[in-house]
Amino acid sequence: MQFSLTVNGESLDIEAAPDDDLASVLRREGYTGVKCGCDGGICGASKVLIEGSAEMACGKAVQEADGATIQTIEGIGSQDELHPIQQAFVDHFAVQCGFCIPGMIVQTKELLEETPDPTEAEVREAIDDNLCRCTGYQKPVEAILDAAARMNGDGAVATDGGTPSAPNACEGTERNGETNE
Ligand code: FES
Ligand code: FES
Repeated sequence: MQFSLTVNGESLDIEAAPDDDLASVLRREGYTGVKCGCDGGICGASKVLIEGSAEMACGKAVQEADGATIQTIEGIGSQDELHPIQQAFVDHFAVQCGFCIPGMIVQTKELLEETPDPTEAEVREAIDDNLCRCTGYQKPVEAILDAAARMNGDGAVATDGGTPSAPNACEGTERNGETNE
């Protein structure tokens, strides 16, 4: 069957079985930032924004999404111009293997659109179904709170890049007997 989706502003006509899961369909179409990390509905790695709501794409049949407007991680910032949420994750060293990060960023985008100035408790609740096996959750939480501040114009880092708020961990440290300035 044929289904129509608008993904990151691009209209797509997709050939798929009605019960193919949306995560697999998006990955087949090249949106490999949508991760599949569990048997379905547990890890949050497959989250995308569907009509602005963060949903696990693995748990949704493509026919349920027919006609929908979807944003994946590929549509949030770019390599050359990171979204402030992405920049905050980088600056706070909140990324290790990175597998969970697309889902976390997608969830954060929904959170900050609905709640621009969240409390730490609200941040923790928002990402409570985004599982990370690497960092723990403290650094992502700090990054999300800082991203909110940046997007509200209160952060140490301008939304157009600017100076990272977190100190460069390598600055001024000694490595192999040489000081890294
Ligand atoms: S792959 Fe979708 S929630 Fe884990
Ligand atoms: S950074 Fe590796 S799973 Fe989260």
